[in-house]
Amino acid sequence: MLSIVKQKSEYTFKANRNLGRHAWLRLTPAYGVKLVEKLITSVAEEAVILDPFSGTATTGLVAAEKGYRAIAFDINPFLIWLGNVKCNNYSQNHLTDLYTGVEKALEEYKCLTQQKHWTPQIFNIERWWSTNTLNFIAGLRAALVHQFGEPTEDSIYNLVWVAFCRLVIETSSAAFNHVSMSFNDTKNNFEIDYIPELFLSIFDFILKTAATRIAGSAQFIEMDARHITTLDNIKINKVITSPPYPNRISYIRELRPYMYWTKFLHEAKEAGELDWLAVGGTWGIATSRLLSWQMQEENLPQEVFSVVDKIKCSDGKNAQLLSIYVLKYFHDMHLHLSSLRSILHNDAELNYIVGNSTFFGNMVDTASLMIASMHILGYSDINLEIIRKRNCNKALYEYCISAKWFGS
Ligand SMILES: C[S@@+](CC[C@H](N)C(=O)[O-])C[C@H]1O[C@@H](n2cnc3c(N)ncnc32)[C@H](O)[C@@H]1O
Repeated sequence: MLSIVKQKSEYTFKANRNLGRHAWLRLTPAYGVKLVEKLITSVAEEAVILDPFSGTATTGLVAAEKGYRAIAFDINPFLIWLGNVKCNNYSQNHLTDLYTGVEKALEEYKCLTQQKHWTPQIFNIERWWSTNTLNFIAGLRAALVHQFGEPTEDSIYNLVWVAFCRLVIETSSAAFNHVSMSFNDTKNNFEIDYIPELFLSIFDFILKTAATRIAGSAQFIEMDARHITTLDNIKINKVITSPPYPNRISYIRELRPYMYWTKFLHEAKEAGELDWLAVGGTWGIATSRLLSWQMQEENLPQEVFSVVDKIKCSDGKNAQLLSIYVLKYFHDMHLHLSSLRSILHNDAELNYIVGNSTFFGNMVDTASLMIASMHILGYSDINLEIIRKRNCNKALYEYCISAKWFGS
């Protein structure tokens, strides 16, 4: 049966690349608009839809485009900022003013590239941009700051900064041939005039797609999904989400360039601290802290402890550390599913897209282990469906867990 499951790129970020606002900035682990559309069919008009791990806002934006009210959480403030910018409505006058401001900034650009400007403290920045390219994008940034000010949470100019983020990644030597980002060997060395031309074409695309009206609404809130606080009496009818998988992928790692250039990150230490708060976080300090981590919740499924023990006894480097990593992942997902209950409506439906992984040959069956947590926590009508094969590795799949909450 598993052998006929296909990779289905239409269910991944790849299919979002030509879909209006969904295409503004990439995040490799994002899921596809089509998958969310499939899960949203037959949801009642007045339903409130939640994505507690919202990433690049795929669920929130699809739901809002379809006229629903959506609420979304993420631990990463940059993604909250991006989600809110993505789901706003923009008037034609506002877009025209932005365009005029950008034209002024581009007039100033050439003079500004003669001077030295602020560049972010990204470790090994020369791996990302050649010296010339770095000067040019720093000069363009200075010109944009002069016109629009720094990006802030509620600046009306944030569309300009989304375009700048896109420029930053398109001019970098980052390569996205794998699930996790790497670097190209050859660095791009652009001419001074190419940077404003590229910026303008990106900005044009963002303005066109921002002009489309969003019928519903989506609100993005910075929240740790393991400790959800109540939402002013709003109850959730439907959850559609894709949490991190236990695969040691760091979202901060891929989002770093955007986050540094928009000043959501200032130094490497902050990236580690943020990753420590993320479920499955694995960047810098997050890994070393695992060794002294203490469980807050002991009532986890027995199956979790069994797989953790197998990993611990494996013959591999860091087997003990990675067994704690896996334990903490399922512990954190259990905390999330437990705290979620306080904001669910009494017949809420849940859809979780999750992927399995392997550690030293031991299969970590994420879906079964999460289902075991759901049983302990009182969820019902639990079903499992295979969605797609993740890559050419025969063992890695993506699943959709569906469940219902009928109250405690
Ligand atoms: C797989 S991504 C979601 C991708 C999303 N479906 C999309 O289409 O872009 C998982 C997200 O969970 C977020 N996350 C990790 N730990 C979290 C936590 N404790 N609370 C809230 N969000 C968290 C990460 O920052 C990341 O953006």
